[in-house]
Amino acid sequence: MEGREISKAVIGRLPRYYRYLGELLELGVERISSNELSMRMKVTASQIRQDLNNFGGFGQQGYGYNVKYLYTEIGKILGVDRQHNLIIIGAGNLGQAIANYANFEKRGFMIKGMFDINPRLIGLVVRGIEICGVDDLEQFIADNDVQMAALTIPKTKASEIADRLVHAGIKAIWNFAHVDLNVPEDVVVENVHLSESLMRLSYRVCSMQDQKKEQEDEGEELS
Ligand code: NAI
Repeated sequence: MEGREISKAVIGRLPRYYRYLGELLELGVERISSNELSMRMKVTASQIRQDLNNFGGFGQQGYGYNVKYLYTEIGKILGVDRQHNLIIIGAGNLGQAIANYANFEKRGFMIKGMFDINPRLIGLVVRGIEICGVDDLEQFIADNDVQMAALTIPKTKASEIADRLVHAGIKAIWNFAHVDLNVPEDVVVENVHLSESLMRLSYRVCSMQDQKKEQEDEGEELS
């Protein structure tokens, strides 16, 4: 695996494999064939085999996949077998919603702190996490071995805060602000834009409706 470039598409599919395998484990399933997994996940069996072959396969001819082993190995690839210390910058609606979601901790993402500039928010406690002012940001990052930051602030402020985070040693930014960040090569950014996802959904529903309408119009012309 080392030194090999894994395509973004494959990496993008791994969390879904991880989720399905986790559910199978909860159901007590010990092993599964690529065909069975394919039926559950609605992905072709050959796609599953190809994806997992990127990491050495994990499967055995005639046996299928050992669910626990595969789950653990994919977890290692995704890095969710390690603890990641995270802070949230912007303790508004979105920042607080993230802080209130307890399941991130199960995946190793420990929310260590929240920061805001609004004096009315500073000092409030969200699920045990006190909201601090941004003056304390650099010191907090150093003291708490923080590597990741979620940016849930307006886009006008995002670049300035991202620069501060990078200087303070943050290596991964989970960016919700609607702006593309310029960061050094050794810092990774994952942009999450719900509105873009919603637009993709809108495209799909509209094309379906348009297609249906076209078919109806054709039907009317023929009758
Ligand atoms: P909000 O207004 O409730 O919260 C934003 C918070 O950021 C406020 O508490 C504000 O005081 C704080 N803030 C502003 N400048 C700051 C700075 N320099 N340092 C630290 N804190 C600062 O807004 P909401 O709804 O939580 O959204 C936050 C941002 O995320 C908005 O820019 C919004 O456009 C964006 N957003 C992105 C989504 C996505 O899918 N990517 C979805 C929803 C919102």
